[in-house]
Amino acid sequence: MCGIIGFLGKRPVLNTLVSALKNVEYRGYDSSGVAVIQNKKLVRYRAVGTLNQLIKILPDASQSLVGIGHTRWATHGAPEERNAHPQMSKGIAVIHNGIIENFSMLKSFLLKQGYRFESDTDTEVVAHLMHFYYHNNKSVHQVFFKILTELEGSFALAVLLEDYPNQIFFARKGISPLILGRGSQGVSLGSDALSLVGISEEISYVEESTWGILSLEDIHIFNEKQESQQLYFIPHPLGQESLGRGEFHHYMLKEMYEQPEIVLKEGTRPIVIPEALKDSSHITLVGCGSAFYAAWCGKYYLEQLAQRIVTLELASEFHYRNPMVQPGVTIAVSQSGETADTLKAIQYMEQKGQYTIGMVNMPYSSISRYVQYELLTRAGPEIGVASTKAFTAQLLCLLKISLTLMKEGEKKQHVLKGLQQLPMDMQKIFFKASQLQDIAQHLVHAKGIIYLGRGISYPIALEGALKISELSYIHGQGFAAGELKHGPLALIDGLTPVVVVAPMDQFFEKTVSNIYEVCAREGKVFVITDEAGATQLAGVPVQDIFVYPSPKAWELHPFLSVLSLQLIAYYTALHKGCSIDQPRNLAKSVTVE
Ligand code: F6R
Repeated sequence: MCGIIGFLGKRPVLNTLVSALKNVEYRGYDSSGVAVIQNKKLVRYRAVGTLNQLIKILPDASQSLVGIGHTRWATHGAPEERNAHPQMSKGIAVIHNGIIENFSMLKSFLLKQGYRFESDTDTEVVAHLMHFYYHNNKSVHQVFFKILTELEGSFALAVLLEDYPNQIFFARKGISPLILGRGSQGVSLGSDALSLVGISEEISYVEESTWGILSLEDIHIFNEKQESQQLYFIPHPLGQESLGRGEFHHYMLKEMYEQPEIVLKEGTRPIVIPEALKDSSHITLVGCGSAFYAAWCGKYYLEQLAQRIVTLELASEFHYRNPMVQPGVTIAVSQSGETADTLKAIQYMEQKGQYTIGMVNMPYSSISRYVQYELLTRAGPEIGVASTKAFTAQLLCLLKISLTLMKEGEKKQHVLKGLQQLPMDMQKIFFKASQLQDIAQHLVHAKGIIYLGRGISYPIALEGALKISELSYIHGQGFAAGELKHGPLALIDGLTPVVVVAPMDQFFEKTVSNIYEVCAREGKVFVITDEAGATQLAGVPVQDIFVYPSPKAWELHPFLSVLSLQLIAYYTALHKGCSIDQPRNLAKSVTVE
């Protein structure tokens, strides 16, 4: 949620600032803005919409050597220019990611002091509060520290003052991430490692409840007691090649095409799991959104293959109910490793004495650094807001854990053999993509689409429904196929397409019965199945069937069915002209609860 950037360069910074903002645009794209010091004056540029709107109003040439920038995902205040960051108070500019919880109280105080507010944001109070103390106390360091003691909530923020053109003040409190960078071009700060690709050779993660001052000469960092802290820099883990979408029209398309390669590479890489996981009979899986659905598939793997007791928890609901916790291991599944709810859930479990594992795609993320053990899914940076390759990499990682915990034997060898064939089978789906485009043509005018599945295909159906909703803005809703006659059957009307994930597995016949039930009520059914399933469906009055190669084992169907559903969602959104990589109202990294 919201991307922040700060840069002090040896050469003019505006272009660098904008390209770094491009790297974090996936964190929010309602509006954006930058503030730079130009001819000794603090100047701000802001625009509503994507970064391209901001670029249009920026000066062609700028000599500024310092700047801060922001891409916004609105929390307080609508996406309007006056609410875009930086927020300012005479000579002071502030950018912020997170939430200032006591902003109403601070705003009332500042209003009484005569300050006028131009925005509805919580960020503007930070700028005015800084101004208020700054003009009563000339030590800017003390002022910055003072305001931090007054701000409640979770935030990462950066402040640029006209009077201090060689410094950027920064702070982190709670779960909002912040990193620092240094390199031959200058020093920088940003929301995540991606933000600083291309502008820093080394990065350092800012710990919770610390603040500091960035300058070309030095970086100072302090804790809440104003004690100086040590900073540890590591080589930047990501290179330029991790950005860019090559010849693809969208990041999402590129990322979907990368999936067979990921399965090929990661499917054979041995996985090292901690002893605690090997020894634990009870495993809890937590995550949000697509990561939650991947975890749900993982529940089937861990139960069936590894014979573990598995509890599945939606992170955004979990810790609020103060659940009782049995001894065991918790695995937090998260692409970004920054999702606030997932981080909170894992913190709760750690406090309850659980052994914690972070299954993340972004190394050094907040979850990675919090947990006792990090398991990397290694899908590479995912820029498209809708998760695709990260989901598949999570599935694979959970399957590999389950296979590692599984007793040796024929069944295990069978799945492992199937995994070797899987990338080729996934590849074949792309050869038949035009058939998925045809299905998308049928879905494009629907007001709502129902997704059905049984067994492990149930969370896959839910993931398909989420993908279509977020990308095409058509209401997709997933149901367990067996639940149909307990209510959702009432929705079948001939106008609401029904997508059924029906692989040839132990549930196939029951799912086919459900297909008949829908067809009997004039429902238009689109089936996603494998070759073996398709042969059994001859004569069933469905609208269309998409057939993918039959994998060797039921455990591998989700990789093929979810790819088919991702492509359907992609083409539907494409037909509708939706913003595919940046769906409305969303952001990639959800760092607020
Ligand atoms: C949907 C999607 C989201 C994320 C969710 C969790 O396509 O991407 O539902 O899966 O916000 O994000 P991470 O995995 O970063 O914790």
